[in-house]
Amino acid sequence: MSKQSTIPQHVAIIMDGNGRWAKQHGKERYEGHIAGVESVRCVVRAAVMHGVKWLTLYAFSTENWGRPIAEVNAIMELFCKSVVGEAPDLKKQGVRVMIIGERTHFSDKVLEMIDQIESVTAEGNRLTLVLAFNYSSRREIMLATKAIAHKVAAGEICSEEISEQTISQHLMTHAMPDPDLVVRTSGECRLSNFLLWQASYAEFYFPEVLWPDFDEKEFAKALEVYASRERRYGLVIEE
Ligand code: FPP
Repeated sequence: MSKQSTIPQHVAIIMDGNGRWAKQHGKERYEGHIAGVESVRCVVRAAVMHGVKWLTLYAFSTENWGRPIAEVNAIMELFCKSVVGEAPDLKKQGVRVMIIGERTHFSDKVLEMIDQIESVTAEGNRLTLVLAFNYSSRREIMLATKAIAHKVAAGEICSEEISEQTISQHLMTHAMPDPDLVVRTSGECRLSNFLLWQASYAEFYFPEVLWPDFDEKEFAKALEVYASRERRYGLVIEE
């Protein structure tokens, strides 16, 4: 096996702790999400600077629709505002934005913003920023399974031919490499339905810092932790 690169090609982040940050600062929960957008700006800049090629951020899970409607609306509004406000700078930095998740339940405005940010930044070639928005990994795997079953029923593929690659190719992440490093902020140590299939061989890092306090320095720290890890993929590494 060749020596691994010290810079991960793909970093995936569960941005957790906005609500706790808001509480600590005597603010409303939505203000924690607003503060979280600044951290998104910081990590995008840092990822470009360090030469990370893929950055996936868990912005809204399918389960998050169950939050109070005011909070859901605030996140949707923040997404729309961010698209308008950040698009020129993302473009300038060479960032391509992709959205993964189901395009259901969204308002027409949000759907329009998703199309807009993807098309405006389509030429970016330094970093692909993937926003997982209305995303749930179990649903993604279930939908992939259904799609494969339909193809088998239609005689397009034979069941014996189904491989791990077949499944990967039917996931919403089919155009992306698997994450090398998964970070979850706020000290919580779980995946919460995020990239369950894709993170099979990822390294995990769970810093205590709340998402609105996660900045370029914290991102650099995460990369340092990654560089110190030895990835064995179930094999034995010869000295
Ligand atoms: C988790 O913190 C955070 C979210 C569910 C939303 C993440 C959203 C942003 C960072 C801002 C929006 C950005 C875009 C690009 C739409 P939490 O609310 O679960 O925090 P808690 O666990 O402390 O309550």
